[in-house]
Amino acid sequence: MNPFFISTPIYYVNARPHLGHAYTTIVADSIYRMKKLGNDPAFFVTGTDEHGDKIVEAAQAHQQTPEEYVEKISKLFKDAWPWLEVAPDRFIRTTESQHKKCVQEILQRVYDNGDIYFGEYGGHYCFGCERFYTEKELVDGLCPDHQKKPDFIQEKNYFFRMTRYLEPLKKHILDNPDFIKPERYRNEVLGMLGDELNDLCISRPKTRLTWGIELPFDDQYVTYVWFDALINYITALQWPDGEGFKKYWPGAHHIVAKDILKPHAVFWPTMLMSAGIPLYQGLRVHGYWTVKETKMSKSLGNVIEPMSMVDKYGLAPFRYFLLREMQFGLDASFSEEALVGRLNADLANDLGNLTNRVLAMTHKYFKGVVPQISATQQEDEHTMELGYSCFKDYVELFEKFDFAKALARLWVFVSHLNKYVDQSAPWMLYKEGKNDRLQTVMYILLEGIRKIALHMWPVMPGTAEQMLEQVGSGFDLQEVDLHAEWSKWNGLVPGGLVAKKSNLFPRVDVTTDQEKKQATQSKPASTADDNKISTISFDDFKRMHIVTGKVLSAEKVKGADKLFQLEVEIGENQPRQIVAGLADFFAVSDLEGREVVVLANLEPKKIRGVQSQGMVLAVRHGKKMSLLKAEPGTKPGLKIS
Ligand code: ME8
Ligand code: MG
Repeated sequence: MNPFFISTPIYYVNARPHLGHAYTTIVADSIYRMKKLGNDPAFFVTGTDEHGDKIVEAAQAHQQTPEEYVEKISKLFKDAWPWLEVAPDRFIRTTESQHKKCVQEILQRVYDNGDIYFGEYGGHYCFGCERFYTEKELVDGLCPDHQKKPDFIQEKNYFFRMTRYLEPLKKHILDNPDFIKPERYRNEVLGMLGDELNDLCISRPKTRLTWGIELPFDDQYVTYVWFDALINYITALQWPDGEGFKKYWPGAHHIVAKDILKPHAVFWPTMLMSAGIPLYQGLRVHGYWTVKETKMSKSLGNVIEPMSMVDKYGLAPFRYFLLREMQFGLDASFSEEALVGRLNADLANDLGNLTNRVLAMTHKYFKGVVPQISATQQEDEHTMELGYSCFKDYVELFEKFDFAKALARLWVFVSHLNKYVDQSAPWMLYKEGKNDRLQTVMYILLEGIRKIALHMWPVMPGTAEQMLEQVGSGFDLQEVDLHAEWSKWNGLVPGGLVAKKSNLFPRVDVTTDQEKKQATQSKPASTADDNKISTISFDDFKRMHIVTGKVLSAEKVKGADKLFQLEVEIGENQPRQIVAGLADFFAVSDLEGREVVVLANLEPKKIRGVQSQGMVLAVRHGKKMSLLKAEPGTKPGLKIS
C-alpha cells in the first residue's frame, strides 16, 4: 500500500476556467483514479488562489469587493469539475481560515529560524505574474509571459533567506532524479540554481495591498501571494497534526505547467526546508496548450472553454483527447479538427466499432448471453499474452505520467482485437456449426473489451462504466484487482446478458465551413420527409428579432425542476427575464456570464407563474444541450440577419 497524493495548482480567480486548467485537473483526476484502481489509497486536491494584486484588480474591474468577487469565481471552478467528471477529495481556497492559520504558522517558524529579515529592494514587477523579474529574465524588457513592460517598484519589505537553501536543494535534485520530471525541467531548474538567485521578497506593505494574509510578526504587512499559495498543499492535509498529512505527504506529487516551475521547484522546497518539513516527492511539469501557435491564457484572451467542447463532442472524447494528444512535458496544439480526428479514428472506428460488432454477434449467435470459454488455440493464447503486455505497459506508462504513450500502447490491443475478429471470423464458425470454437472466440472478445473498459476508467469514468455494463459486467472499485487482471482471462461471468449495441462514440462528420455553406444553400428546407418544414418568406424572417445576449444570472424556478429563470442582457435598458428549460443540462455557473442567442419578440408568456420575455435558442442532441452563440466576445444586442 503506497498512499499517493496529487495536486493541481490552485488557480487564480481572475477569470473563468479554461482548457489549460481543465487539462491539468483532468490529468490529476486520471492519475488519481488510476491509483485507486490499483488499490493504492489516494488523495487529490485542487482549489483556488484568491489573494494578491491581480485579484483586487479583477474585482475592481467588476465593481465588486474582493470578497464578493472571489466567492463567485471560486464557485465557477468548484462547479466546473463535476461536469468534467473530476472528483477531488478537497477543494481548497486560500481565503479559508484554516489556511490562514497554516500560513502564519509557517511564517513564524521560518522567522524563528532566522530566515526572515527586513530590507529594501527595487525591481521589475509583473502584476500578471505577481513576481519580480531580473533584467536577464525579461525578453526585450517585457515579461516573457504577459508581453507587458513590468513596473519598477521600490519599497521596504520582508525577505526570505532562500539563498541559504539553494545548495541543499541542488544536492537534493542531483540525488533524486525523479524529484522533478520530465528531465528537461529538471535541467532547467539546475540551470536556475547555477545562476545568481536572490532572497525572496515575501511581503507587501498594507499601504499598497491589504488583500492578503497578515504577517504574524508585523501587522503592517500582508504575505506575498506565492508564499501564501504554495502552503495550500499542506493545509489541505491538515498540517501539522492531521492524519492526512502523516499518511499522504510522503507520497506527495504536484502537477503544474511550466509557467510556474520556479515557485514550485525553488521557492516551495526551500520554504519547506526552512520550516523543517520534508520535501514533496515529485514535481511533474507539463507544457502549454497552444491555439494557432500562441499560448492560450486568460490574459491573452484566446481561450478555449472546456464546456463548449464537451457540449459539442462529449466528455469522454474530450478527456481522451487531452491525454492522448499532449506528450506530457511538451507543448501541444489544440484544434477541433485534431479532436474530431482522434474521436473518429480511435474511439468511433477502433474501439466503438469493435464493441458494436462484438455485441451484435453475441446477440446473433447466443441471444446476447455471455458464452463459456472452452479449449483455446494458439491465436487465443497470443491474444491473451498481448493483452497482458499491453495492459501492464499501459498502467506503468500512465503512472509515469506518459499518458500519450500509455494510450497508444493500449490501442495496440484494441487494434489487435479488431484483427482477431477478422481472423477468427465468428460468422464462418457459426455457419459451419463450430459452436465450441465460436464460444471461445466470443468469450475472449467480450472479456477483452471488459478489460479495455476497466483500464479506460481513469480516463473516461462514466463511459467506461457504461461500457462495462454493456458487456454484462458491473463496476465496483473495491472489487477490482488491476494487477491480477492482466494474467487471467476469466473476469466476465458466463451467462450474463450483454447490450444489443454500444454507440458510445458516434462518429462526427467533419465539414469545413465552405462545405457547410454549400450544403445549406443547395438543400431546400423541404427535403426532410418525415419532418416537413414549410417555407417562410424573407419578410417573415425579418419579423423575427433574434439578437445576441449575455446571461447575467440564473436561478431555478421554484417548484419546477427543469426550469431556470434567467436575466439576459440584450442591449436594452434593462435585462430580459426569460424562463428556459435548461436546468437538466446546466448548472447556474455554466450559464452565468455565458453568451447566448435570444428570440426577443416572442409573445411574453407566464410560465409557472413567472413572466418570460423571450426565448434562449438551443440545440438538443440526445442527453446534451448546446446553447447557440455568436463569436466569443460579441456584444449583446446585435441582430441576427
Ligand atoms: O499560476 N496550457 O494560477 P493560474 C496548459 N495561482 N496548462 C495551462 C495553460 C495552458 N495554456 N494555461 C493555464 C497560478 N494552465 C497560481 C498557482 S499554485 C500554488 C498557484 C494551467 O490560474 C497550468 O496548470 O495562472 C498552469 O500551471 C496553471 O493553469 C496556472 O494557473
Ligand atoms: Mg497564470
